[in-house]
Amino acid sequence: FLAQIGPDALLRMILRKLPGQRTGDDLEIIYDELLHIKALAHLSNTVKRELASVVIFESHAKAGTVLFNQGEEGTSWYIIQKGSVNVVIYGKGVVCTLHEGDDFGKLALVTDSPRAASIVLREDNCHFLRVDKEDFNRILRDVEANTVRLKEHDQAVLVLEKSPRASTLGSIKYTVISGTPEKILEHFLETMRMDIHPSEPGSVDDFVLMHCVFMPNTQLCPLLMAQYPFCLYFPEKFEYALNNKRRALILAMRWANTHTYLLQEEPAPISFLEELYGSLSNDSRMLRALKDLVPDLEKIVKLHSEEAKATKKKTLIRQFSNGEERLQKKQPIRNQDDILLKVYCIDHTYTTIRIAVATTGREVISTVADKLSTTEELVLVHLSSAGEKQILKPNDVSVFSALSINGRLFACPRDQLNNLTPLPDQEGPTAGSMSTFELMSSKDLAYQMTLFDWELFSCMHEHELLYHTFGRQNFRRTTANLDLFLRRFNQVQLWVVTEVCLCGQLSKRVQLLKKFIKIAAHCREFKNLNSFFAIIMGMSNPAVSRLSQSWEKLPSKFKKFYAEFENMMDPSRNHRSYRLTVTKLEPPIIPFMPLLLKDMTFTHEGNKTFTDNMVNYEKMRIIANTIRQVRHCRSQPFNPDICQPNKNQAEVRAYVRKLCVIDNQRALTQLSYRLEPRRT
Ligand code: CMP
Repeated sequence: FLAQIGPDALLRMILRKLPGQRTGDDLEIIYDELLHIKALAHLSNTVKRELASVVIFESHAKAGTVLFNQGEEGTSWYIIQKGSVNVVIYGKGVVCTLHEGDDFGKLALVTDSPRAASIVLREDNCHFLRVDKEDFNRILRDVEANTVRLKEHDQAVLVLEKSPRASTLGSIKYTVISGTPEKILEHFLETMRMDIHPSEPGSVDDFVLMHCVFMPNTQLCPLLMAQYPFCLYFPEKFEYALNNKRRALILAMRWANTHTYLLQEEPAPISFLEELYGSLSNDSRMLRALKDLVPDLEKIVKLHSEEAKATKKKTLIRQFSNGEERLQKKQPIRNQDDILLKVYCIDHTYTTIRIAVATTGREVISTVADKLSTTEELVLVHLSSAGEKQILKPNDVSVFSALSINGRLFACPRDQLNNLTPLPDQEGPTAGSMSTFELMSSKDLAYQMTLFDWELFSCMHEHELLYHTFGRQNFRRTTANLDLFLRRFNQVQLWVVTEVCLCGQLSKRVQLLKKFIKIAAHCREFKNLNSFFAIIMGMSNPAVSRLSQSWEKLPSKFKKFYAEFENMMDPSRNHRSYRLTVTKLEPPIIPFMPLLLKDMTFTHEGNKTFTDNMVNYEKMRIIANTIRQVRHCRSQPFNPDICQPNKNQAEVRAYVRKLCVIDNQRALTQLSYRLEPRRT
């Protein structure tokens, strides 16, 4: 009998039997066959034995037969035993061909989403081994290789990996490891869950936050728009098409809500939103299922197009000539805002130019040259109070906000660089201001400092963290709000050092140390960790920490506080002490910003963004998580009633907003030695 029908036919016959009717010999024969299949090579023999009892034989006679369609529910996983198939995607056509030994149809099973492609027979008489969903889940879900790789035209386009954490539903989650920007977008649209709350963190959230790193709006908008008018011609695909429309809309709205006012600075996003809204309004007349999304999108579109028009007319002018700036701002600084910038010449005269925030170094130079009516080639220099020169790059943007505390911008011909000297006022104050602020209560000072920090912290856009990490000149976007917040950290730190070093009397200096420890304690109480750290770091500056006579006289209670505070700054085990403290706090919190930035820079510098043409999406996820920490800190508004202020509130407020400091470490150290000379 065997000889008559041949081994292949026998195998087919056995495979056609219902799984329950297979004998032990049958299972051996199937198992032998499975041992030779490429798609199963990575599985253990135990798993192959289990599969032997459940695989089903399926064959189709005609090329062109559709095994299943994109958008359908996934019910089985397939292995090609003989023949070949085309993988077809709407709008793309055949993206790849699979042959004997290849498998397909796993994606829908492991991501619980519709089929990502249609499968069409490429030749007559194809044979498949099929494993149905239930069996797949039972036998393979946990043991199946951890990676799913998809190719298009012989190029890898998406890599998913089983995430170590099972989701709450007990199902296994596959997360994107890398992919081409376009395929990643498609994948998220396909697998997007519409039943979760829009603000919930998840893959879509990461995407709308991070896409600007690998896919600018000018590329994203057309792709999203192309996803929207998904064909509704085939009645059997109606449901799928409708869902795709909804997904594209939801993604677009979340995208708009993440970018907020930044969208108004580019023409592409606004016209995209308007176009999308137009299509939706049209569609919703016929498709009731889309009606509920109309008001939300309408709100977004109205807001952005109106604001975009309004900001074109309104140009804000800010006096921002370093050192004397009045940072009395509650509104974020935007790229198109105009600023007045003082640029100094070698003879210490200056010109004031009016430029947009996002202006590049090159444009600043040419504006200055115009104003000075010079044809000489100038360089733009950041001159610190210590006389250090840094030539600014022509493509750098928003140069003003990155200056050091007492730094100034100079423009001069390159050959005169060596003759540049700092302005006298860059040195900072010659007398301390203790007599002013010793009359103010430490709590009031900490409170007003916190109010100010909140203003700066809340003006910062989440995207500024990205621009900062990946280089703002690559985006041509300002990070001015973030810069000002970071400057404030430095300023508070230097304020502490300056005041101590300018305090000639030992007993007063001890008072001063006590005062700063008290202010720091109140900052911590107000959950203002940024200023808290700034003060403690100021006190641990060598110019202050070396003043042993002053520290010796400090009452032990204060010494204990200080020691405890210093412990929190301990950088060991990746700042474990600080991180533990923060996790215990409830928002609103002002975090220790330099550390968050360090985390992001560390991730950025240690990991490539692209390999070939695929985005390293794990990197995106890690950076998005750090940004979400910032989001968490700001998720509750600061409550200004936490402190009952005294009568002199306005005075305290004015004082903390313009701290005058010496930012030259050498000058500070010299002062310190004058106070308490080295013991011999
Ligand atoms: P699934 O989404 O279940 O159904 C279509 C299958 O096509 C998919 O699983 C993959 O196994 C397979 N496939 C192969 N290449 C691609 C590709 N580039 N994009 C999407 N699916 C692909």
